[in-house]
Amino acid sequence: MHCFQYKKNQLYCENVRIQKIADECGTPLYIYSYHTLIDHFNKIKNAFKKIKPIICFAAKANDNLAVLKSLIDQGAGCDIVSEGELRKAMKVNADPAKIVFASVGKTDQEIELALRTDILFFNVESLPELEQINRIAKSMKKRARAALRINPDVDAATHQRITTGTLKNKFGIDFSTARDILRQRDCFSFVQINGLHIHIGSQITTLDPYIFSIKKVLKFLEELRSENIDIEYFDLGGGFAINYKDSDAKTADEIAEAIVPLLQETGLKIILEPGRFIAGNAGVFVTKVLYLKDNGFKKFLIVDGGMNDLIRPTLYDAYHEIVPVQRTTAESVKVDVVGPICESGDYFAKDRILQGMKKNEFMAIMSAGAYGYVMSSNYNVRGRPAEVMVKGNKFEVIKERETFKDLIRGERVPSFLS
Ligand code: LLP
Repeated sequence: MHCFQYKKNQLYCENVRIQKIADECGTPLYIYSYHTLIDHFNKIKNAFKKIKPIICFAAKANDNLAVLKSLIDQGAGCDIVSEGELRKAMKVNADPAKIVFASVGKTDQEIELALRTDILFFNVESLPELEQINRIAKSMKKRARAALRINPDVDAATHQRITTGTLKNKFGIDFSTARDILRQRDCFSFVQINGLHIHIGSQITTLDPYIFSIKKVLKFLEELRSENIDIEYFDLGGGFAINYKDSDAKTADEIAEAIVPLLQETGLKIILEPGRFIAGNAGVFVTKVLYLKDNGFKKFLIVDGGMNDLIRPTLYDAYHEIVPVQRTTAESVKVDVVGPICESGDYFAKDRILQGMKKNEFMAIMSAGAYGYVMSSNYNVRGRPAEVMVKGNKFEVIKERETFKDLIRGERVPSFLS
């Protein structure tokens, strides 16, 4: 579904002009389309309907309460990685029976809170972590549930910073250790190990890595069954790609067609943890042209957003389409779109052909709904941007722009300096 479209040369989010939102709320600014979020969630739900998976939205992709609530109200669960994400999910009434908790470094406090909340299970990433969960559950007189996160040692052929499923990465447990743990599962009497989990990477554009990984898991399950080790859940993780530039991402239907038969073969209850697929193309980042600069060698469009607001282009060499909020007849020019931060890595695009733009005009950086705001920082003492959600012809600020007061909250000059 295209909820960001031009009507009479004006870019709209659903039925609201983006120019109007930018004028009212200021820039830089994130704007999310409610209906796109829901549509993407439903695409996965429908594609996989034969196996009725629990779809746990990966909160790390976009943890705004309004985004979480929109999805939870549609029946989504949450894949969380921290106490903060767990608390946010619970604040908008997530069903604890649909919460799974990954992370290689869960603290005691996080384990305790998850046990008190009675989440579906921990995705356990190491033996010492399992021992710790067992100890804490014992002291709380509770029985934890856990899935072992398997590292299937499959290369997902994605950007090196977002691949997770090979033994070069810190994630998960290799098959042989997992087998040993499951054989001695009685030693962990306060943990019921009833699931296997994998998450092999993000922005995975081909199906083979999924197919190879699930086949490895199927073989492992067969071995486990021959030893009478019963498993109830298989959590496939996330990773489904979106189209940033070329249309090389698979549709939900294509993914499902390739892997549902394998998932059915497991005979287990299935969990999916999509993040980017749901939120990525449901959001844009809007920024305003401050200055045009031509150093005789290159032309620069200097905008009010920076790498602190949206770090993906510089961190992952990620391509984000950039479009003007108002289309004009101005001739196209080749420019670098750069921010105000004191780093040469502070750019959104290099040598991009864009409609010629003037000071105070707005541009939208597309596909910024996942891993956008959540990865922003206050570098250069810049307040984080505002976030807005649009539904039909309505829009509301769902996170206020940070003020200077927010930025210095908690900071103190020590008494020995005064
Ligand atoms: N499950 C687990 C255990 C994960 O670690 C992740 C993402 C997901 C699910 C969701 O993956 P997705 O469906 O969104 O691909 N900041 C990077 C992406 C990092 C992904 C981290 N883990 C980026 O901007 O590309």
